This record gives sequence, C-alpha cells and structure tokens, in this order.
Amino acid sequence: MSALRNTDYRGKVMILVTGSAGFIGANFVLDWLAQHDGIVIGLDKLTYAGNLENLVSLKDDPRHIFVRGDIGDAGLVGKLLAQYHPCAVINFAAESHVDRSIHGPEDFIQTNIVGTFHLLEAARAYWSGLAEPEKTGFRFLHVSTDEVYGSLAKDEPAFGETHRYEPNSPYSASKAASDHLVRAYHHTYGLPVLTTNCSNNYGPYHFPEKLIPLMIVNALAGKPLPVYGDGQQIRDWLYVKDHCAAIRCVLEKGRLGETYNIGGWNEKANLDIVHTVCALLDELRPRSDGKSYSEQITFVTDRPGHDRRYAIDARKIENELGWKPAETFETGIRKTVRWYLDNQNWVSNVQSGAYRQWVEKNYAERG
Ligand code: NAD
Ligand code: DAU
Repeated sequence: MSALRNTDYRGKVMILVTGSAGFIGANFVLDWLAQHDGIVIGLDKLTYAGNLENLVSLKDDPRHIFVRGDIGDAGLVGKLLAQYHPCAVINFAAESHVDRSIHGPEDFIQTNIVGTFHLLEAARAYWSGLAEPEKTGFRFLHVSTDEVYGSLAKDEPAFGETHRYEPNSPYSASKAASDHLVRAYHHTYGLPVLTTNCSNNYGPYHFPEKLIPLMIVNALAGKPLPVYGDGQQIRDWLYVKDHCAAIRCVLEKGRLGETYNIGGWNEKANLDIVHTVCALLDELRPRSDGKSYSEQITFVTDRPGHDRRYAIDARKIENELGWKPAETFETGIRKTVRWYLDNQNWVSNVQSGAYRQWVEKNYAERG
C-alpha cells in the first residue's frame, strides 16, 4: 500500500477527494470510509450537481471534513494540502453532463481544463515540498471517461488504453484536455499521477438528468420517457460501487503514469436499458392502471454529435491489478431501481430548484 502512507497526527490515512458531493465522488467517500479508518477531506464547489444530502450519513463522523470550494482556487487547495497533509488527491470534480456541454461549454472549459490545471499546480507545489517517504508515497489520481476515445463502429474492438483520443463533445474534449495535462505533469515534473477512464456509471445518488435515473423518476411521475434518436446508441454500464472499488485498486497498486480503463463488459442499447427499467418498475411498483411503464416511452430529437457506441476493454486493470466488477447489469440495475423507490425524498429534494429549470430548457427545444 505504498500510495497510502501519509498519516495525520492521529496516525490515520488522509486523502483529499474533489467533487465529493457529486454522484461518484459521494459514493467513493461513503465506500472509502466504510472500509478504511482514515480521514477524508472532501472539496466540492456544490454546483447544481453537488448535493450534501448524498453525504448526510457522515454528518457526525469526525473522519469526514467537507470544504466548499473550487478546484480552480489554487490558493485554497494549497492551504488544504498544507493543513491536512494528505497522501493522495482523487479528482472527481468536473462538469459531467454531455447535454449541458452542448448548451453551454464554458463551465466545462473552466472546471475540467482550467480547474484541473490549477489543481495540478497546487498538488505539484505540495508534493515538491514533501520529505521522504511521503513524497514517494503521494498519488494524484485523475478520474476520467471513456468518452475521450470517441465513438466506435458496431464491430470495432472495445477501447484499450492506447486507443487514440477522438473526443466529439465539448464535455469529452474538456476531459481529454485534462487527461493530457495530467499526463504532462508526470512526464515533465515527475508528479506521481494515475488516470482512470471509465464507462457509464449507474447506481445510488445519480443525478436525474442522466439516462437511468431520469427514466426511473419520469416513469414514476407519469411523464414521457425521452429516448434520443432511434435509441440504438450503445453504452457500457458499470455499477458505481464497482467503479469505486476499481479506483481504490488503482490508487493502491497502479503503476505511476499509467492509465487504466474501467468498464463492466455490459454493452447495452439505450432503448433496451429503458425497457429494462420499465420492466423492473412494472414488477416492483406497478402502474395503477395495470399498463406497462414502457407505454411512456417517447422518441425525441437526437443529441447533436451523438456518439453511437462506447465499449471498454478492461483487461489491463484485471490482469495487472486483479480488479473485476462484482455486479452484473441485472443485479446492479435491480439495486438501483430499488434505491430510487426507497429514496423518494432524495429525488424530490433534488427536483426542487435548478434541476427543474434545466430540464425545461433541455426538453423544450427537443419537441
Ligand atoms: P457529477 O456531475 O455528479 O459530480 C461532479 C461534482 O463535481 C459535483 O459535486 C460538483 O459540485 C463538483 N464540481 C463541479 N465543478 C467543480 C469545481 N470547479 N470545483 C470543485 N467541485 C466541482 O459527476 P459524476 O458523474 O459524479 O462524475 C465524477 C467524475 O467522474 C467526473 O470527472 C466525470 O467526468 C467522471 N466520470 C463519470 C462517469 C459517469 O458515468 N457519471 C463515467 C466516467 C467518468
Ligand atoms: O461514458 C461515460 C460518460 O457517461 C461520463 O463521462 C459522463 O459524465 C456521463 O454523463 C455519461 O455520459 P452519457 O452521455 O453517455 O450519459 P447520459 O446519461 O447523458 O446518456 C446516456 C445515453 O442515453 C446517451 O446515448 C444519450 C441517451 N439519452 C440520455 C438522456 C438524458 C437519452 O436517450 N435520453 C435522455 O433523456
């Protein structure tokens, strides 16, 4: 566990997690503290996607320190690093929604590119000043996406780590730029970095602007289930807790400067996903009129520049580090639908506020 050496005065491992109030960041913090007796400093700007309710179970847990702030604020990040002396920075903070990046790319450039640059600068200054063995043990883990590789044709092999970068949306282009910066900080300055490129996640606390939670929430509200284009676009789905386990694995055992692709070997067409969600809801919370939720499916105008297919070849992380997903799509999607049914308060709290305005803007223009 060379990456997890630095400890605070209580002898506990300290990590700094950015974007900790978002979907994957929050799942990561919850899982981390369930497995380690360490301390997590969470840094999150609390944009529309950041939700402290995701971390409410840690409210009275002294192992969790939350700071509201921007990864682009190098002064703040530098202060936090000096004060808490973490052994790792795990960077989840990002603007993450492709549709939003089409309507307004600027925030994506600011956070995903400029923000990552400032975070790297702060991490480099901190790491340069560390004494051994902390210096050797330090890690900067950057969480990225399979979307940087672009779109695959039907019969092309899944994305390996050496696939060329061909991002097609402002979101994926901004993530690609951040990946390049992370790589450059390793090659130029020796910063001990790791990068992970993961496929589509799903699970608890997923913001209901993304496909799976949107379909669950709309179905239960009796609203249309908007499928873009012909619904035959393919994504490779991974249960979020498997992603969190993969990140822990890379953090502990990953080779410095390497990238690791993470995926669930679950290629599914969007329309099949929507039918699966409907079938689970038909079973677990049948409609009062006895009809299937699939009757609410509506085909709407496609996303501009919509990538047709993503698929991850996850053999490197499996062969080198021994990580494999624990959930199948069938077990993961059932847990997810169940979570949304059991957490209707979380959904209604998310739906009040900025989220509603965004939904109106996005779907009003699709007709
Ligand atoms: P999310 O949108 O749910 O959460 C992002 C979090 O980052 C939010 O809490 C937000 O408040 C915070 N944030 C945004 N800008 C910030 C800034 N400037 N400073 C500090 N915090 C800021 O996103 P997610 O789905 O949890 O994704 C997390 C990371 O994983 C992202 O980097 C994303 O690119 C990557 N990723 C996501 C998926 C997926 O399927 N969701 C798949 C692969 C990779
Ligand atoms: O592949 C990893 C990426 O997965 C992450 O990097 C992104 O942060 C994450 O948002 C996700 O991107 P996608 O664009 O694939 O996710 P989204 O849930 O927005 O859409 C999934 C698919 O469903 C996509 O093909 C578009 C389609 N879709 C989406 C919505 C919101 C619909 O058909 N209808 C919808 O209403």
